[in-house]
Amino acid sequence: MNKTTDEIRDAFLSFFKQKGHVIIPSSSLVPNNDPTLLFTNAGMNQFKDIFLGKKQSCHSRVVTSQHCLRTGGKHNDIENVGYTTRHHTFFEMLGNFSFNDYFKKEAIIYAWELLTSPQWFNIPKNKLWISVYTDDKESYDIWSKVIKISPNHIFKIGDINHVKYNSDNFWQMGDTGPCGFCTEIFYDCQENDIHDNDNILENKKKYLIEIWNIVFIEFNRISEKNLIPLPTKSIDTGMGLERITSILQNVFSNYKTDIFKKLIKSISKFSPVKDLNHTSFKIIADHIRACVFIIADNIIPSNEHRGYILRRIIRRALRHGHKLGIKENFFYKLVPDVIKIMSAKNKILNSKEKIIKKTLQIEEIQFTQTLDKGLKLLKKEIKNTKNNVFNGEIAFYLYDTFGFPIDLTADICNEKKIKIDYEKYKKAKENQKKKSSSINKFYKNYNESIIVNYHDTCFFQGYDQNNIQTIVKKIFIHNTEVFEINPNQKGIIFLDKTSFYGESGGQVGDIGQLYNEKSMFQVENTKKYGNTIGHIGYLISGKIIVNDHICSKINQTYRNSIQLNHTAIHLLHAALRYYLGNDVFQKGSFVNDQYLRFDFSYSNHIHLSQLQNIEKIVNMKIRDNILIKIKHLSLEEAKKKKALALFDYYNKSSVRVVFINDFSIELCGGTHTTRTGDIGYFKIISYSSIASGIKRIEAVTAEQAINYLHEKENDIQDISIILKSNSTTVKDSIKKLINKVNILEKKNDHLQKKENKYLIKQIIQQIEYIQEVKIIIQTLNKYDRQILRKIIEQLHKEIKIGIIILINIKNNNFVVMSTVSKNLTHRIQANNIIKEILKKTNGKGGGNHEIAEGGGVNIKIIPLALKYIKLWIKTKLLNTKN
Ligand code: SER
Repeated sequence: MNKTTDEIRDAFLSFFKQKGHVIIPSSSLVPNNDPTLLFTNAGMNQFKDIFLGKKQSCHSRVVTSQHCLRTGGKHNDIENVGYTTRHHTFFEMLGNFSFNDYFKKEAIIYAWELLTSPQWFNIPKNKLWISVYTDDKESYDIWSKVIKISPNHIFKIGDINHVKYNSDNFWQMGDTGPCGFCTEIFYDCQENDIHDNDNILENKKKYLIEIWNIVFIEFNRISEKNLIPLPTKSIDTGMGLERITSILQNVFSNYKTDIFKKLIKSISKFSPVKDLNHTSFKIIADHIRACVFIIADNIIPSNEHRGYILRRIIRRALRHGHKLGIKENFFYKLVPDVIKIMSAKNKILNSKEKIIKKTLQIEEIQFTQTLDKGLKLLKKEIKNTKNNVFNGEIAFYLYDTFGFPIDLTADICNEKKIKIDYEKYKKAKENQKKKSSSINKFYKNYNESIIVNYHDTCFFQGYDQNNIQTIVKKIFIHNTEVFEINPNQKGIIFLDKTSFYGESGGQVGDIGQLYNEKSMFQVENTKKYGNTIGHIGYLISGKIIVNDHICSKINQTYRNSIQLNHTAIHLLHAALRYYLGNDVFQKGSFVNDQYLRFDFSYSNHIHLSQLQNIEKIVNMKIRDNILIKIKHLSLEEAKKKKALALFDYYNKSSVRVVFINDFSIELCGGTHTTRTGDIGYFKIISYSSIASGIKRIEAVTAEQAINYLHEKENDIQDISIILKSNSTTVKDSIKKLINKVNILEKKNDHLQKKENKYLIKQIIQQIEYIQEVKIIIQTLNKYDRQILRKIIEQLHKEIKIGIIILINIKNNNFVVMSTVSKNLTHRIQANNIIKEILKKTNGKGGGNHEIAEGGGVNIKIIPLALKYIKLWIKTKLLNTKN
């Protein structure tokens, strides 16, 4: 019997365990502190710093089954998903790793044994083919002499377009980072094996599926043109679990393996389409897996960064649901099945089912409201498309108005072999960007284009030192690296070490000064750039040159305020979990010197009394004046202590844990105050729901909290003065005032009714008859629409049968209303009367046969219009029978 996906994963891990490897769980899909990467895209990501020699690994041999996502960035497979048998956004990558332990020979021998040994995967040897880099003689020899593979089964791959190492057999993680030659193992899907001959290779290639990539990590790419050798050599291998499963299960399409068959069956329950081979089923199956795992790693859909990738995947899936004729909101309903199918051993996934479902449901409801409209427009525009190029401005309009990500529009256009005019799309996008706020332009520009290398590091010494001696390493002005900075120039300075905190983990950067005897640079903000910190600001005096010795001094008052808010956020987080339960999970946070903001998952509304209790708990802990302790623990120890963490810190051998007794234990890199008592006072100033299931609390501390209370106190005082009252009696005064208003309103109503009665009597006396039909046409001048409606209703009741037209002219506007009794509507209709009047007066309005109204500003023409309407009514009545 074929092995299941779970069994294949287990077999891989056990095989390498036997070979002395330590099994390590998958790290998060969100790379930990790696700005070069949006999502984990290979098994080796979590070991990047170990490969680079920046960190020591606890084990020299490890094995993993890593969650990966390949959409966006260097490795992007989304466009192929569903259309090929093997591409995915989310997939699991099986990999064995050696850090400065075994190298090429053992890596190849292990791979061959696992794949071909009858005890393990038992793949016939003649089904396997090998590729090596042209110049990698060592690998070639291992395959041909040690493994003894026929040279006809080994092909050498060189550089594409003669660009050095631009080759399928040179693997690199991204534009920078660890890299090296690789050898790949392919499976031959051709059923009848043709005998090898000289020109067979080209024919063969189309039948070969790449199953395993063995990378010999020996370089660090620091820029497009620069590779530097690493101090140690390592092995990084990767084999897609879904792919090897398709081979071992003899189905040759990932979408026909046990897991995907189950997923597609679940999806098909919602669709009238019976053909389970339909591409859209595959796309949805792939995308729902990706979404479940991304959300489980605490990403929520949004319009930028990782959140936007998630949003794009969801929307692409929903559109394919539409293609499958699915009418209901179905996507989020797949979550329990995905979790059941995927999570035999994944406790985290199980515990997050509720929040994943809710997140997808909100997104689905939102997008399906615009999906239909957008698709209609898109179809229409596709019809109008000339030369098979889709107008980029319309693509932008679809994005802006209907939330169609550009790749969704491209996907639909592709099906019709139409290309998008990306240039126009980009221009439209840029134009809109320009129109919207230009705030932060300066720093944004810097952020986007500064290039810092991985070996640029800056030691943060500002946990306990606010002024240190350091050295200038790099200076940037307007995106360009320069040697010196002069007065009034804005720029970014990178130092050897610093006391400035680089904005991260929700804590803003510091402000302060960089100075020596000659020069002074004002730091307005500090941000992280890779492993280093940029000091953003302008030079006040002197001149700063690279390699200058300089003091880095933060503004301690500013930092203190930030620290109070940061510690308060930990207290708030703990108080929320203590009071509302462990459903509360941090979704985001922000602290600066003014206030703190905390976003968290919680499905129910939180009442004011509950908020007040949470506030009380935080203030109690403040009064306890607890000493804040920072400890560096191993991840295991931190987990044992049940430390809370927003990110997956798995890869760190030691993590920084902030303890506020046992009440709050959190992994955190931020800066904190010494004792909780420093916070003085904590006050919640707002509570809101920012998305379904996600709440936000904003709060202030210390001086800001007192200022806040003072403002409230001042407001009450101002109100008291207006009401001629004082703070203790102001509530009663407001109640009295409301009572008074109610009484006056009632009196006014009564008088109005009296006046209406009188008016109606007068109007009735002026009834005319046209063709024996009662007609009232009256012009009035002081009523608003509501009262006019009441008057016409009353009149209608009085005369029962007839036609009424009331016009009220007030403030250079007119309102006109008409009623026609039911027994006359076959001859004349209220909406047509209004239409005729409005035609003459250029007004607007509408209604039905019995009652209609309208209005306009052309009041001078009213007398003429009324004369005309009288005539019109007469003619109508003359020409129609009673
Ligand atoms: N890093 C290599 C890849 O992703 C091997 O694991 O293909």
